[in-house]
Amino acid sequence: MDYRRSIIITGGAGFIGSHVVRMFVNSYPDYRIINVDKLTYAGNLANLKDIEDCPNYIFIKADICDFEKMVEIFSQYEVDGVIHLAAETHVDRSIRDPFTFARTNVLGTLSLLQAARHTWELRPEKYEGKRFYHISTDEVYGALELDTPQGEPPYGTSFFTETTKYDPHSPYSASKAASDHFVRSFHDTYGMPTVVTNCSNNYGPYQFPEKLIPLFINNIRKGKPLPVYGRGENVRDWLYVEDHARAIDLIFHKGETAQTYNIGGFNEWKNIDLIKVIIATVDRILGNPEGHSLGLITFVADRAGHDLRYAIDSSKLKEELGWEPSLQFEEGIEKTVRWYLENQEWMDNVTSGEYQKYYEEMYK
Ligand code: NAD
Ligand code: DAU
Repeated sequence: MDYRRSIIITGGAGFIGSHVVRMFVNSYPDYRIINVDKLTYAGNLANLKDIEDCPNYIFIKADICDFEKMVEIFSQYEVDGVIHLAAETHVDRSIRDPFTFARTNVLGTLSLLQAARHTWELRPEKYEGKRFYHISTDEVYGALELDTPQGEPPYGTSFFTETTKYDPHSPYSASKAASDHFVRSFHDTYGMPTVVTNCSNNYGPYQFPEKLIPLFINNIRKGKPLPVYGRGENVRDWLYVEDHARAIDLIFHKGETAQTYNIGGFNEWKNIDLIKVIIATVDRILGNPEGHSLGLITFVADRAGHDLRYAIDSSKLKEELGWEPSLQFEEGIEKTVRWYLENQEWMDNVTSGEYQKYYEEMYK
């Protein structure tokens, strides 16, 4: 079949990437979707079981740092679009092992940009009809104050906008900031049609259970302690993952070249309040008495350099492209908790490491 477009989605076996791949494969049968993923500990092809046999879907196990392999994929499939999500993503891991973050997030992004440039500049039409879309994070902007007097959200008077100065604090956010700069430099220097988005904390199905929400749901189910960093006063702005995927679809097709768009939920939560909602939801669904699991809350040493508050102003995206989150938080968290409790096998395979053995055999 002749496909209308050929799009690489990197990191498609991860949490957000799997939702984006599913959305594109199902919504655009006339696009060839090429999922390029190294399958690190965070990549799990079980996240894509429902679409793996679709004719417009291809999976390639590859490291984005492998420049020659990237060039080969671009040429072989006549790629005209990139949605780049592959990254090392966990802040705590970046504190222990910053090199891996610099390698994948900075050098990997550069290798992908160079492969795109190398391939596209050789074609007669060059950059016409091409798009390199880089997915980034609100963490590059640093941290906001908690400076409102009342105890209700929003917890501060300032928000991250697209013009907020970069001020990353963790090795993770520093590596994402560097990759954002490289992407923009490829537009300014070579004329590559790039676009960058910076999104707030995502939640929903298929998130690796090292991140707060799936970790805590699983620990509550198992009666294990819930390690709350510091006093649980830090604030995050939570967005349901399918709403992020919808924004990515919209921006990939309609976003303006060389622009940045912030994506967020206008949905701030102090960690400790969010944790209480998770506990109440899990207890209710499992039929436990109210307050049953509150005793699992365990305050532990704070994360080094822990950013106090993130809050995204996504009004540019709303005004220019009409995007808004579609799901209320209460509905999103209910769906999420139910998904993890109903997909015990997925969770057990991930926590035991079984998922990696199966796919290692397949893609040796
Ligand atoms: P994730 O950790 O769940 O998945 C990352 C994926 O990238 C995995 O499938 C992994 O195998 C793959 N990968 C890692 N290194 C690779 C390499 N060298 N080559 C090829 N593939 C590699 O990540 P996520 O939470 O889904 O985040 C996806 C993207 O979105 C990241 O760029 C992240 O910075 C960004 N982001 C995440 C959030 C969030 O809340 N999770 C919020 C804003 C932005
Ligand atoms: O803001 C977007 C970012 O959100 C993404 O760019 C990152 O890839 C993603 O991991 C996420 O980063 P956070 O550090 O905010 O997410 P995490 O789930 O690790 O932690 C959320 C908050 O909960 C944070 O304030 C730290 C706290 N926390 C986390 C864990 C894992 C705890 O108190 N205890 C924990 O065990």
